[in-house]
Amino acid sequence: MSAQKSSSTAAVEPERARYRADLLTLNAKPLWERTMVMGPGNDAVPAIWHYRDMRPQLLRAAELVTTEEAERRVLMLENPGLPGSTYILTSVYSGLQIILPGEIARAHRHSTNAMRFILEGGGAYSSVEGERVMMNPGDFVLTPYWTWHDHGHVGSEPVIWLDALDNPVAKFFGAMFRENYAGETQPVTRAPNEAETRYGAHLLPVEMKSGSRSSPLMLYPYDRTRETLLKLSRLGPVDPAQGVKLRYANPASGGYPFPTIAVFIQWLPAGFAGAAYRATDGTVMCCVEGQGSIAFGDRVFQFEKGDVWCCPPWITYRISAASEAIVFSYSDRAAQEALGFWREETLKGNQG
Ligand SMILES: [Fe+2]
Repeated sequence: MSAQKSSSTAAVEPERARYRADLLTLNAKPLWERTMVMGPGNDAVPAIWHYRDMRPQLLRAAELVTTEEAERRVLMLENPGLPGSTYILTSVYSGLQIILPGEIARAHRHSTNAMRFILEGGGAYSSVEGERVMMNPGDFVLTPYWTWHDHGHVGSEPVIWLDALDNPVAKFFGAMFRENYAGETQPVTRAPNEAETRYGAHLLPVEMKSGSRSSPLMLYPYDRTRETLLKLSRLGPVDPAQGVKLRYANPASGGYPFPTIAVFIQWLPAGFAGAAYRATDGTVMCCVEGQGSIAFGDRVFQFEKGDVWCCPPWITYRISAASEAIVFSYSDRAAQEALGFWREETLKGNQG
């Protein structure tokens, strides 16, 4: 039977080859010959950028390039598995930005959501839609989609932050728009901390009609986040894979701060050895305090304050802490949940 089958296959093969060629002229291909692997994960690989390596390069950039020339003086973190993409993962972009005293990053807006996580220095501010907020280390600062924004620095030392955007998602959909503001900066038209006053005290305007899918807050200050994490660390429970992990919430909806990006902070006790975990959201992590390691199978990255690393979708990892540690992170989980794709798995025993 099998011999008969193979001889008939051989007989039909020239006709099949002609058929394939005919289909190609019609921009069509047979599904039954597709070799694409239909499974979770993609080409992104685990990678880490140590602050001790990146900080000197940012300071060199500050000597070599002005903000007038660069508009944003940023080193993009490109995943080694996605060469040429300029993306850290297939769904999120990451960069390290440095701004010097007196400099201005001119005003613009884009259809993509952006956020900053401040790593070092004080005296820099971010202006969004007429409100100016000062940024300090550990602060998570938002620039929601299509909002005018510029940055400046009235302090005395370089300020460095981690930039995150959902550019790959907008690019995927062909919905990337961008425009420059008429002037270098926008006027400050709102009171100091106005967004915090309106939306940051567990109270909302009765007739709130924002229309925005992003959080109305401009900044989630680190001192408050840290205090909450440490209080919760004493209350428990501690998740076996993630320690005490919280998500930043949009106070108007209870959802994520952005329609595409979910943002998290977690506390790990000294000596924590996390269970093996994987999820479909590609995650970027940044060590805020302490030291630890993250293991992807046999590949282990040691991390300390300021280091940034990525956990690609559905690749199993274990996070450990040598000392008490705090880790900031963000991922495409907001988009995946909205679309019904998101899954996670904590593996038992020595799996993964
Ligand atoms: Fe921007």
